[in-house]
Amino acid sequence: MNVDQEMNFDARPNVSSVPQREAAAAHALDATQPERAATIELVRARGLVKHFPVEGSDDVVRAVDGVTFEILSGETLGLVGESGCGKSTVGRLLLRLIEPTQGEIEFDGRAVVKLKSRELRLLRREMQIIFQDPYASLNPRMTVRDIVGEPLVIHKLGSKEERKTRVAELLTKVGLDPDYMNRYPHEFSGGQRQRIGIARALALNPKLIVADEPVSALDVSVQAQIVNLLQDLQQEFGLTYLFISHGLAVVEHISTRVAVMYLGRIVEVASAAELYANPQHPYTQALLSAIPIPDPTRKRKRIVLHGDVPTPINPPSGCRFRTRCPQAIPECAEIDPDLREIAPGGHTAACIRVPGWKDAPTLA
Ligand SMILES: Nc1ncnc2c1ncn2[C@@H]1O[C@H](COP(=O)(O)OP(=O)(O)O)[C@@H](O)[C@H]1O
Ligand code: SF4
Ligand SMILES: [Mg+2]
Repeated sequence: MNVDQEMNFDARPNVSSVPQREAAAAHALDATQPERAATIELVRARGLVKHFPVEGSDDVVRAVDGVTFEILSGETLGLVGESGCGKSTVGRLLLRLIEPTQGEIEFDGRAVVKLKSRELRLLRREMQIIFQDPYASLNPRMTVRDIVGEPLVIHKLGSKEERKTRVAELLTKVGLDPDYMNRYPHEFSGGQRQRIGIARALALNPKLIVADEPVSALDVSVQAQIVNLLQDLQQEFGLTYLFISHGLAVVEHISTRVAVMYLGRIVEVASAAELYANPQHPYTQALLSAIPIPDPTRKRKRIVLHGDVPTPINPPSGCRFRTRCPQAIPECAEIDPDLREIAPGGHTAACIRVPGWKDAPTLA
């Protein structure tokens, strides 16, 4: 193994991420240029399926049931949907923490599902995950120094002293005092613990961070600080994020694009600006209607969804949302709508009643 490369903690090739980020931003505004899109997709997931067996039965939990999406280099893709719809499973599949039942994942041109263990180990340096609960995800018996430095130890990077320097640098980057590195997680607040989790995720200089509800367990006042920190780090390091949240409010400001999930499927994807201004899928409309508008002169009619989310063991026939959809018609029980581009600029939706859906071509 090349020692110089290994000492340099940087898993990324020697390419400036800034032009990529600009390209991603431009692409978000103009996704009609497929040749450009082809060069800057960091992640491509195609037909991803994850079924979990149900103990003592032949049934399966259809946690993720055929999702196709991409994450562009330098962007934040928000992934939103109610609890249990499969968001975390998507995140874990991308990092290959679990094996897909079906489907393909490409990361930076490499077929993630086919990688052998050594290649997978190298790949893991490039993709990291931050979890929702900073209380549960940090080992209480390890010092902050050991927690943040552990990925470097696992990947055999640097000497003990170099690792200590790196940990100090990482703690400073996330707004923590490096003098506290010998303390334990319980000595920190929830927000500080999430900063520790972020420092650990940054240790190997990843390209992609899956942030799985990183602020859902935090006080509202602290949430904004953590979101701001993630945005600053994205700018500085050219990071790409999959930002998972159960509500649309949290992801609005951080997302370049947003994908909405319902019962194992993606039902709508658009740029954040487009999705919030012009939601097309009835489920997205309902989720959005739950967010209060700060401007008192404007009002949004609250769409209340009735009934519970059906079980992913036995989803409804046709459109999975039909049992709760305020716009359902008899045809919705027959047709299982796929995601189609319903407006130029990459706005896709899976609903037979969205204008333009019936005439739109099926996505590859
Ligand atoms: N390891 C597992 N075994 C069985 N079922 C699981 C497992 N992980 C997740 N599930 C189920 O898959 C569905 C999706 O879960 P998850 O991806 O965690 O949803 P979300 O993150 O959107 O809340 C849920 O019904 C959940 O109970
Ligand atoms: S296909 Fe039918 S049930 Fe599904 S979201 Fe559209 S209108 Fe509602
Ligand atoms: Mg989850």
